Order: sequence, then C-alpha cells, then structure tokens
Amino acid sequence: MSKTIIISNRLPLQISIDNEDLTVTPSIGGLATGMKSVHKSGESLWIGWSGLTEEEIDDNMKAKVHEASSKEGCVNVPLTAEDMEGYYYGFSNKTIWPLFHYFTEYAEYRNEYWEKYQEVNQKFANVVAEHIEPGDKVWVHDYQLLLLPKLIKERFPDVAIGFFLHIPFPSFEVFRIMPWRTELLEGMLGADLLGFHTYDYERHFFSSVRRLLGHEINFNEIVINNRIIRADIFPMGIDYDKFYNASISQQRKSVKDRTELHQQLDKHQLVNPEVRFILSIDRLDYTKGIRNRLYAFEHFLEKYPKYLGKATLIMLCVPSRQNVDQYQRMKSEIDELVGRINGNYSTVNWTPVWYFYRSMPFENLIDLYSSSDVALLTPIRDGMNLVAKEYVASQIDSKGVLILSEMTGAAKEMSEALLINPNNMDAIADAIDEALSMPDKEQIQRIETMQTRLKRYNIDKWASDFVSSLNETKQRQLHYTTKKLTKKIEKDILDKYQKANKRILFLDYDGTLVGFKDKPSQAKPTADVYQKLDKLAADPKNEVVLVSGRDKETFDKWFSGKNYTLITEHGAWAKEPNGEWVVAQTINTDWKKLLLPILEFYEDRTPGTFLEEKSYSYVWHYRKSDPELGIGRANELKDQLTSLIANHDLEILEGNKVIEVKNSGTNKGKAALRKIGSNSYDFVFGVGDDWTDEYLFKDLPETAVTLKVGGNNTIAKYSIDTYKDVLALLGKLTE
Ligand code: UDP
Ligand code: G6P
Repeated sequence: MSKTIIISNRLPLQISIDNEDLTVTPSIGGLATGMKSVHKSGESLWIGWSGLTEEEIDDNMKAKVHEASSKEGCVNVPLTAEDMEGYYYGFSNKTIWPLFHYFTEYAEYRNEYWEKYQEVNQKFANVVAEHIEPGDKVWVHDYQLLLLPKLIKERFPDVAIGFFLHIPFPSFEVFRIMPWRTELLEGMLGADLLGFHTYDYERHFFSSVRRLLGHEINFNEIVINNRIIRADIFPMGIDYDKFYNASISQQRKSVKDRTELHQQLDKHQLVNPEVRFILSIDRLDYTKGIRNRLYAFEHFLEKYPKYLGKATLIMLCVPSRQNVDQYQRMKSEIDELVGRINGNYSTVNWTPVWYFYRSMPFENLIDLYSSSDVALLTPIRDGMNLVAKEYVASQIDSKGVLILSEMTGAAKEMSEALLINPNNMDAIADAIDEALSMPDKEQIQRIETMQTRLKRYNIDKWASDFVSSLNETKQRQLHYTTKKLTKKIEKDILDKYQKANKRILFLDYDGTLVGFKDKPSQAKPTADVYQKLDKLAADPKNEVVLVSGRDKETFDKWFSGKNYTLITEHGAWAKEPNGEWVVAQTINTDWKKLLLPILEFYEDRTPGTFLEEKSYSYVWHYRKSDPELGIGRANELKDQLTSLIANHDLEILEGNKVIEVKNSGTNKGKAALRKIGSNSYDFVFGVGDDWTDEYLFKDLPETAVTLKVGGNNTIAKYSIDTYKDVLALLGKLTE
C-alpha cells in the first residue's frame, strides 16, 4: 500500500542516552506536535534526525536507536556532529531562521554553513531514496530542508511532493539579502504543492519567485518546464479534541489524583483567592518576544498598581538551540530581568513572575492552560503560534482571555483575541488590564467563537486539505502534460508532412521562432531561423506564412525578398512574396489620438515601460519594468481601456508582457482563413506562443496540426516547450 513519507529535520521523538540506556522523549515545537497527530492516524513513514549524532552511538546503540525509531514509524537520518554544527546550528538557525523572522542583524552568511546545508539536504534525499516506493507521496517540512524537494524531484520526477513552510516567508526586500536566494527558491520549487500558514507568506514567496527567477505567476500557479506548481494557504490547526478532552478529564480528577503542579496551583489560589494567573509558553527564542513581555509586565505593574499582589505571570520557557550565541545571551538577559522584577516587587505572599526554564509533559501543559485566566503571547515574529490555539481549546468553561501579538500567523485567524503590537509596552499593559477586567460574558463570546473555528479547522482537516490539494495538483499536471508533443506524435506529424502535396505553415514570430529580448527590436531573426525558413520555403509544395503582431516596417526590414508570406499587426496587413503590402479592410484610426495620452501616462509613470505605435494599434510593453509594478499597472490599464473602448470598434489583447489595443475584426485566425481562401491544403500547420495565437488555433481547419509553445492552457492540439524545440521540429520537417 502506498504511503506518505513525512520528512522534517527532527523526528517527533528525541532519543538521548542515559547510562547506556536510551531515553525517548517527544520533540517540542509546533511542527512536531502538529504532525504527530497526522502521523499517528495514517499510513506514513517519518524520516528525520533522532537527536543523537553518529559520534554518540556505537553499532550496538545504533541498532537500539533503529528499533526505538521504527517502533514509531520513524527512520533516522545519520548526522555527524559536524553536520549539526554547519547545517542545523549554522545555516538553519544562524542564517535562515533569523532572516526569515526579520532579525536581519542576527543572520550570518558563511560558506561553510551553506556547504553543510547542501550536503545534509542531500543526505536526507539519500535516505528518502532508500524508502520510497511507487505510489508514495512525499511531504517535506520546514526551513531546514528547503533544497530537498528539488533533490527528490530530480531523482523521482513522478512522485507527488508537498512542501510546508512552518515559519514566515519574508518579504522580497528581506529575502533578497540571502546570498543563496535563487538556489533556495529553486529547491522549494521542486515541490508540486507549497503550503504556507498565511496569505502574506504566500504572496512574499511569489514575489521573490517572480523577481528573482522571472517566472510568471498565474493566480496561485507557476509553470516551470511544463510542470504546474501550486502554492496555497493552509493555516495549521491543532488536535482540538485532544486538548479539550484532556482539560475536561484533568478537571474531573479528584484532588489527590491531580498532578503535583495542578495541586500547587490550586493551593496557591486557595491561600490567595484574589490572585490571577497570566500564562506564557514558548521555546526560549528571540522571535518569541519574551524580553518585551517582561518589560511590558513590569510596565503593567507600574501603570496599574491595583494588581500588585494579585497578578502572577507564569512563564514557561523551553530550552532551545542552546549552542547558538543569541539564544545563550537571551537566556542570561531573561534570567536577569525576571530577577529584577521579582526583586523589586515580590512580597512574602506573592511572586510576580514564576519562571520555568524546562519543558513540561502534556498533563502539565494542560494544567497551565486550564488554570490560567489570561494567555499573554507576544512574539516579535512567529510563523503560526500553536500555543495560542492550544490555550483557547483548553478553556472548557469558555472563560479566559487570549492576548496575542499581531505578528503571529495565528493572529490572522484569531481576531477575537486582544491583538497587540509586541513593541508597544503601553498597549500590552492596557490589554492585560482589559483582559483581567473583562466581563465573563464577553470572555465566553470571544473564546467560543474561536473554539468553533479551531474545532472545525483542526489538524486533521489541515492535513487532509493539504493532501487533497497535492492530489489535485498532480491531476492538473497530468491533464496539462497530455498535450505535450511526444516522440510518437512528432513522428506522426512528420509522416503526415511527408505524404502531403500542398502544405501551408502559419508561424508566429516572437516567442515561437526567437526568444524574448528586453526590446522587440533586439529580437532579430537568427541565422538558424533564416536557414530553417528558407529551406521550408524552397520546397515548392510549401507555403510559409509568418503571422505576427509586429509592424510591417520591421518585417520588411527582416524579410523583404524572402519567399514567405508576411502577415503583420495580427492580420491588418498582408504581403505575398514579391508582392506589396495590402491592408485587410478599411480601418478607422480616429481612436488613436484619444487613447494616446492615456497610454503615455502609463509609460511615463511606470519606469522601464514603453509605447509602440503600429498602423492599427498601440502596444504598451512592460517586460523591463519592476515585475510586480508592471503587472499591477497592466491590470489598471486594462481596466481603464475596457471602460473607454465600449463605443469604438476596438479590442484589448494581452500578450507576453504587453497590452495591445487594436481595431477589432482583425486577428490571426481571420487572417489565416483569408490566406487559405478556397485553396485546399493537405497539411496545415500552426504554431504560436501566446493568447493572440489562440485565434489561429481556433480558426484553422479541424485537421490542422496546431502547437502551442510553453504549454499554458490552450486550444492547440499539442504543446511544445520552447522556441528552440520549434526550430528543431521545423528542421526535421525538411530533413
Ligand atoms: N510544547 C511542548 N512542551 C512544552 C512546551 C511546549 O510540547 O514544554 C509544545 C506546545 O504544546 C506547542 C509547541 O510546543 O504545540 C510550540 O509550538 P508553537 O507553534 O507555539 O511554537 P514553535 O516552538 O513551533 O515556534
Ligand atoms: C519551530 C520550527 C520547527 C522546529 C521547532 C523546534 O517550530 O518551525 O522546524 O522543529 O521550532 O526547534 P528545534 O530547532 O528544536 O527543532
């Protein structure tokens, strides 16, 4: 039976050695806790790091580690201490992590980290290769493995690969700082489906793909080498019932059966009934805003002295990435800050901050969630923040208030929380006061609304949505590639050509016979183009017709004296070999002076764009503009033109990085039919690369061989990858 291979840096279990014995503990962090539920319920194999380096285990131990991992459906990727240093502490956590969380000043760009990152991603790919079987799906997770999708795709092109990024994808202006930015993007684009927590992360990703790799994005799809790649938003959920039910059972326990922590919390409240608990839980990480939180809490005590002796901040900080300097430094600062606040404010009966620096078992997390009046989560940046969701799910009486940083992914879905800017101490202090004085009714209303949503879009729904979307993407790819010109189809075309006695070939020019250049005047015919066309045209059985949106002057310059028919301006003008230019019909061009100022306005305020005038049309070119600005302005221009052309006999064509406004009634299809006239051809061939060529494909006879370059949605019969492949095919016709 086919399976899903989950791959993440860390396995959901972490193994350590204690006196020659293995200790297995659950991994901390959103990725592991979330995906664990998915892994449990399905047919999956999880590939990742066990927590032990190769140096730490001898052969005997290795077997034990293997056994402990495989019991949980896991496979260990063997990593050395050196690997961990360069790949994990280095590139993952000193380069990508700070940069993607906008801590640009913390990011280090070192070649040796980059080298190790590549090597270790390759090691992961090797382990995947050992376990992959036909029909399997692959789901790669997070920033430690950005290169892995491509490495797997290269070896297993047919495998469905999903990738999910659990942290923010930063804006282009930040991402571009990364020296190895194109390699990272290309690595990610090995996936068929890319998932992000929020729309902003997705849009930043697309923006970088567009600007750095120059790929077009169509809605949420990119086509690269005839493969559709999709990106979408899947805000990660939690195992709602697990938290809700655990809270209920915790609550129902008799006092003596409760955990020690629970009993202590109860006891404290008994002695000090007025005391209110404010909770925060996070890994000790600079992105989590722990320092800000402490400053804000201190400010709150100063600003609202009525809470002195009555509000306690319970802060659980889980040790994380302790080999990284920033984390070590932050730990000392936090120790100091907690010490200062407690030193200044503590009384015999009250300690303002209870600080735990460790991880806690699940039951204790539930104790904390369910006993706290307020959760105070203040990340400076956080991809999602599952703690916020877990806190809400654990409020079985629906009472409790969530104060949440607007810089978290979770804030996008949890608008009923009190949303704060983590850098605004005053606003946080006010929010704590508001939370502690919020009427029960309002608390219940807010919590229940969030609970309904969390229950519906839980971790299972998140995972199944992702997997169905991956399946759908694969289906779309299949549909898309069915048109691809295969060797067999090519042979049929060549046979048909050979057998024919009267042939006509309609060939678009830009993007079909030559590649695009910054300026249209630079896209001159190459020697190869002349040679292929001349050879075709030399055969008396052939008529070669160039059918283009270009102006006739340019074609005159390039092709006068050639034995081909030239059709320009989408059919407005035509010229037979050795003939004169003939206009297709009388065309009124009064509209041109009306639209010119508008088009010039777009040219002037969009750097890098320019206007081309033809006899019966204007073309605004935006290939060289800033890609996003260009697309935005193109949409604006289309809107504006659409409202203006209603009373004129005009139409708007959207080509490859151009907007053209022209007299309607002429198009490549009509021009081709005029050319065919009453002649009967036994081989009709049409090839083109953009939207304007669809008219040609539509109007040519049913028996015609029609080919679309670039493979986008098309009514052409077949698709071919690039103009180079077109030239190769034309060459084969005359061989
Ligand atoms: N967590 C845990 N043990 C602890 C503290 C936290 O298992 O002692 C879990 C917590 O329940 C949550 C995850 O760690 O599921 C933290 O995820 P979050 O998305 O909030 O932050 P991340 O650590 O992924 O940045
Ligand atoms: C975040 C990351 C995860 C990571 C977790 C714990 O949730 O997105 O990829 O596993 O933090 O960090 P660690 O470095 O200990 O694995």
